Amino acid sequence: MNYSIALVPGDGIGPDVVAQATEVLDIVGDKFGHVFNYVELEAGGCAIDHTGTPLPPETLEAAKQCDALLLGAVGGPQWETLPGNLRPERALLDLRAGLGVYANLRPAMLLPQLRFACPLKDDVLAMGDYRGSPSDNSQVTGGFDLLIVRELTGGIYFGKRGRSDGGNSAFDTESYSQEEIERVLRIAYAAAEVRRKKLCMVDKANILESSRLWRELTEALSREYPHIETSFMYVDNCAMQLVRSPGRFDVIVTSNLFGDILSDEAAALTGSIGMLASASLGVPASKGFSSSAQKGGRGIYEPIHGSAPDIAGRDIANPLATILSAALMLRYSFGLEKEALAVEAAVNAALDRGLRTADIADRRGNAGTEKIVGTREMGKAVVSALLSEE
Ligand code: IPM
Ligand code: MG
Repeated sequence: MNYSIALVPGDGIGPDVVAQATEVLDIVGDKFGHVFNYVELEAGGCAIDHTGTPLPPETLEAAKQCDALLLGAVGGPQWETLPGNLRPERALLDLRAGLGVYANLRPAMLLPQLRFACPLKDDVLAMGDYRGSPSDNSQVTGGFDLLIVRELTGGIYFGKRGRSDGGNSAFDTESYSQEEIERVLRIAYAAAEVRRKKLCMVDKANILESSRLWRELTEALSREYPHIETSFMYVDNCAMQLVRSPGRFDVIVTSNLFGDILSDEAAALTGSIGMLASASLGVPASKGFSSSAQKGGRGIYEPIHGSAPDIAGRDIANPLATILSAALMLRYSFGLEKEALAVEAAVNAALDRGLRTADIADRRGNAGTEKIVGTREMGKAVVSALLSEE
């Protein structure tokens, strides 16, 4: 099959990591008989410099013509003083809204190879009901493997905002419609179906009216999914439970702002924000989630880390989050499950070989068999692992 992929490398380390992901995709194409055609597009700070706007209309139009988008990162200190609607981050919001990708999936799991990098103690990791995957032959007991499903095109990110009182007062608005809430809940339920069948809806229903609507709709929808255990948690408590017993969570579904915050916290638990992939989807949730049932949905795939301008172009950024995002693209937008698993296994194999970028290196001084590598060498290691897979 032929697939067209819009590449939006963006700023900072974005181009470094996207380049490695396309190397990996090319090998997947050769190995499994697919052709990936790339269209490179500008968004973020680089687009501001060249065109004066963070998301040129041509970029959005071209992106809409592609089967999926692979994004690096946007932003940098030189654009920080621009007004809000002209900042590089605006490109992300407009791409998300423009492509209608309302559900953002952010998986976070503890990899046994990176146990040392997780700031939690053994007894904390042993809490909860997560007991490691069957293929995990490490010494880690417990751990966590959770998925944050964040609403992505609504809420306070897109609500009415402004200044009043001559600029001395400011407001932002959290507003959600029934439709916006239900469609993301359905994606979260579909994800829970193919996972450990637990869904926790996170809100602030003790205070916020919008949260009370989320809760009512979740309660109603939960009756359609009797085999999924539905629970509710306030966001402040969730922030605490993530560091007290992350193993208790399977799928967390929540609003745009809460999901933004909780997903950085979850990322830190995995050891490095350089490891976390994400998928943003807009297709209606259908039955099987991790399978070809989702094929055809145009999604945005991106690492959850930022543009890290201080290390841009220096061949030290961790490309794994972007490579793993490309794996999610294969799975969710193209329905290529076998290929996605092959990429994930290759990343695992590179880590098993002891290869580490600086952010995931063992800083305790007992690195043993670890080898610190740069962005390109890590990408190459994934490619060679892919080539040597059966
Ligand atoms: C993220 C980022 C973005 C967000 C920023 C860069 C606009 O933090 O994807 O989590 O807040 O959504
Ligand atoms: Mg964020």
